[in-house]
Amino acid sequence: THARAVPPKNYPSITPPYQHLLKQLELTRSILNRPLTLAEKIIYSHLDNVEEGLAGGDPVRGAKHLKLRPDRVAMQDASAQMALLQFSTCDRPTTAVPTSIHCDHLISAYSGAEADLKRAIVSNKEVFDFLESAAKKYGIEFWGPGSGIIHQIVLENYSAPGLLMLGTDSHTPNAGGLGAIAIGVGGADAVDAMTHTPWELTAPKMIGVELKGKLSGWVSAKDVVLEVVGRLTVRGGTGHVIEYFGEGVETQSATGLATIANMGAEMGATTTTFPYTAAMRSYLHATNRGPVADAADKAQASGFLSADKGAEYDQHIVIDLSTLEPRFNGPFTPDFSTPLSKFGDLVKEKGWKDEISASLIGSCTNSSYHDMSRVASIARQAKAKGLKTATSFMITPGSELINATIERDGLKGDLEAVGGVVLSNACGPCIGQWDREECKGEENAILTSFNRNFKARNDGNRQTMNFLASPDIVTAMAFSGKLSFDPTKDELIGADGKPFRFEPPTGDELPSTGFTAGDTSYLPTALPTPVPETELAISPTSTRLELLAPFDPHFTAEEFADPNKALEFEDLRCLIRIRGKCTTDEISAAGAWLKYKGHLTNLSENTLIGATNDQNGKINSAIDYLPGESEGTIPEVAKRFKARGQPWMIVTDHNYGEGSAREHASLQPRFLGAKVILARSFARIHRMNLTKQGVLPLTLVNEDDYSLIDAGDKVSTKGFDALLRGDLNAEISVVVEKPDGKKVEIPTHHGLSKDQVEWIKFGSALNGIKAQTKA
Ligand code: F3S
Repeated sequence: THARAVPPKNYPSITPPYQHLLKQLELTRSILNRPLTLAEKIIYSHLDNVEEGLAGGDPVRGAKHLKLRPDRVAMQDASAQMALLQFSTCDRPTTAVPTSIHCDHLISAYSGAEADLKRAIVSNKEVFDFLESAAKKYGIEFWGPGSGIIHQIVLENYSAPGLLMLGTDSHTPNAGGLGAIAIGVGGADAVDAMTHTPWELTAPKMIGVELKGKLSGWVSAKDVVLEVVGRLTVRGGTGHVIEYFGEGVETQSATGLATIANMGAEMGATTTTFPYTAAMRSYLHATNRGPVADAADKAQASGFLSADKGAEYDQHIVIDLSTLEPRFNGPFTPDFSTPLSKFGDLVKEKGWKDEISASLIGSCTNSSYHDMSRVASIARQAKAKGLKTATSFMITPGSELINATIERDGLKGDLEAVGGVVLSNACGPCIGQWDREECKGEENAILTSFNRNFKARNDGNRQTMNFLASPDIVTAMAFSGKLSFDPTKDELIGADGKPFRFEPPTGDELPSTGFTAGDTSYLPTALPTPVPETELAISPTSTRLELLAPFDPHFTAEEFADPNKALEFEDLRCLIRIRGKCTTDEISAAGAWLKYKGHLTNLSENTLIGATNDQNGKINSAIDYLPGESEGTIPEVAKRFKARGQPWMIVTDHNYGEGSAREHASLQPRFLGAKVILARSFARIHRMNLTKQGVLPLTLVNEDDYSLIDAGDKVSTKGFDALLRGDLNAEISVVVEKPDGKKVEIPTHHGLSKDQVEWIKFGSALNGIKAQTKA
């Protein structure tokens, strides 16, 4: 059986520290004196200091910064590289909270589990070796390639009701299926938790989703979340926790709840969570965590693991599970949602070719035992009629635990018997790691039970329309190969020439004989002891990995100590004035650049290559101000500035840095010498990321002043000195000197908190952490 229940380093067991959390909750109640939502209970009980955090009464949702102490961190292989490189600059011998690394994103799907895994291990060897060496050095649990997908492994081993965890992946909220608050963050935020630095979160707003009735037949948990995404849209959850409650929650499997929590990310939600249920208790027992379940039972006896009666939500949504239909969300956006009964008409109306080119199930979103046993029941029906799938049909198990258990129980055989190809336990086609030979450059439709469907995400083809649906629907439709096929009503012709119709799928929430661990060599040493003498495995000639040198502080200790020294940026040069939308994709492109995630110098070659120069209208064009120098790409000119020791700033339009928490978009400009970003407005997370890397983010008081600064102008700050010396109300302006010597002063807002000013003072938040280590 699966044996992973082992105590993390600073808890007596993997059980969350309920006694401490209950005390914190009691204090919270005495201060706020009102009914609390479940998310409020979990978040406030993790405050670094409850009295301080709740001073002044109710934290204003959407405004107040909370300082929290997460219990655990999980990182996937692509983002862990930069997170660990940053952590390594902090000079800590080990991580302050239990941490795990999961090798899942870098494994391409091509021909099946075994061959794909071998290929990926060879092509990513240096990255995996580096991650393993860092895990050994710092005492981190290392789940190597083939062990499974981060979120499934976290659910099987680490998530627990009332836990607060951070993960360096946007679908970290999957762990909410067991009643945790699990939040996706960038590496620098993970480093906060790993170094015992309080982690800042803006008090979230709350969306309450009430589930009534019961699911039946063809409808599954996936359809619940497809419905909610359709209602709330891709922006509807921003800054909110989505908290489900009601009788309908009790009737779902824990893994079904995880599917719902997983796709909260598609609405931009901070996270999703659920009250503690009997199904969660069974899942904890089945994954060998009985003591966690027992402790959760006790914590719930004090009311910790569900919302109080009368708790207030900023929005209230009701979903009647009894009337829900299977749904398709897409193409190209997860919020374009169509019920099954109308999908055939939509296909006609849009003029889409009535053909499915590939069917894919599994991934971190939908590869539970429950999902697999339901789809196997469909496969068995088809096999009995002599049918094979009419499209290619791929299955991505979320973990070795699932893979081994479905193999033992014959479910894998059921799927393979009808043409299914089981891929390795990794992200594969969900993250574009799919060497697909068919349909290159052609319009085609695929059905998946994944969570994202942006253009080109799965196979790199912008013409591939990805429709998200439940595993049951994807599987059943694979036998017809037609988009317009309704498996709940339409008939197929069996090998005997007779028509038949599928019966609704059935399956077991949990394996009746328990899980089997499969290949136990994947299981990491639990709570490994750090081995500090371990060298981080980074070759000096590597093009993919590079040690991170701490950023220099902007001013020396002597300058800070001298009250007569004005701590101002002087003679910065404006590199470019950027026009229009500039997302984190435009600042730090993904795609082929992904392989440089651990090599800041090489990745910086893509800095701002998608940005539009407002002065010449061109994309990725900057003009060097020096006589005799010429136009170049933005990274080229930025590198020239860096080479001659010329610090720089840029002027940007509205919502600069929108898109994602991609921290490379702030690390790269800082690395190339940016000191100030002056924007009409910023995306909130990106502004925070810039500050963490020591870049001063300023907002124009008058947005029309945007055009007063041109590339090549000399720019200095005024008022920065007062801010750095402790006056949070200091007004900062920038003084712009034109080539003819004329000067213009432009007022700005800084809006920085005390902690954020400290980060800039140290040159980066990490430098601040490092200084604490020394102290
Ligand atoms: Fe991996 Fe896709 Fe999930 S990339 S973590 S399987 S969303």
